[in-house]
Amino acid sequence: MPRIGLIHTGLRADEKLLIKALKKRQVDYELIDIRQTPLNPDDLTFWEKFDVILERCISTARGNAAIEFLSNTGRQIVNNKDIVAICNDKFQTASVLSANKVPVIRSILVSDESQASKAIESLGGYPVVMKSREGSWGRLMGKINDEDALEAAIAHRRHLSPRHNVFILQEYIDKKENRDIRAFVINGECICAIYRTSSHWITNTAKGGEVSNCPVTDELLEICENSSNAIGGGILAIDLIETTEGLVVNEVNHTMEFKNSEEPTGVSISGAITDYLLTQTK
Ligand SMILES: Nc1ncnc2c1ncn2[C@@H]1O[C@H](COP(=O)(O)OP(=O)(O)O)[C@@H](O)[C@H]1O
Ligand SMILES: [Mg+2]
Repeated sequence: MPRIGLIHTGLRADEKLLIKALKKRQVDYELIDIRQTPLNPDDLTFWEKFDVILERCISTARGNAAIEFLSNTGRQIVNNKDIVAICNDKFQTASVLSANKVPVIRSILVSDESQASKAIESLGGYPVVMKSREGSWGRLMGKINDEDALEAAIAHRRHLSPRHNVFILQEYIDKKENRDIRAFVINGECICAIYRTSSHWITNTAKGGEVSNCPVTDELLEICENSSNAIGGGILAIDLIETTEGLVVNEVNHTMEFKNSEEPTGVSISGAITDYLLTQTK
């Protein structure tokens, strides 16, 4: 029986569902709170007992550090560091998907007002969405309706850390029925999906978006498979928006929350993650 390590920075309902699924399958597992576990390249004995390690940290900084460390020491980690590097950066995600002919929201990386004005022109004008390369839960994003708003937002960014001085501008997409789609994709297969509906243009559940089941259509299956192939497989949550020309990918998440999605979809996402882990043991 393989031994699975689950690294975390505190157990949410999501991790509790995973633990339940591991127990149900009688899998040998250990919970590893990364806040209390030193990452020491000179002492790998603790890590050697695991056949595969699942990263489930709430803290992106800690999760990234653990993934890089464990990958560099030859441990099998899900998701692997190449997938994580792409998903951590919304601009890299957009460029990798675009290079692989997956429809994505048009995104341009800029760093000052004159570049921004040119980018907005080529995106077809206002409104646009400004966002950082990294981030989650709808933070540090803004809908920019005019030049004054652009100027203000750039001025504010100047006082954030330097990495926020380079930012993404995207075309703003008017969402069908005030919703976007989150697809849960494991090893290229979309196992289920949810609509996230909100009266606010940011539909994240962390911002109060309502969750309901989204049927898995052939179009969704295909775009998810192509996205997953471009990114390198693994366990992904792919955010998409419906447009008049079909689905487009917004972003891809590598350590997704799914606790609110098992009930509406009727799919055990935690079970599917566990089954996938068991196929990934070294
Ligand atoms: N270009 C856009 N046009 C319309 N809505 C957007 C756009 N970008 C993001 N959104 C909305 O904001 C939400 C959060 O954006 P996202 O890029 O996924 O950031 P986060 O990583 O914080 O979830 C999306 O789920 C979507 O509802
Ligand atoms: Mg998102």
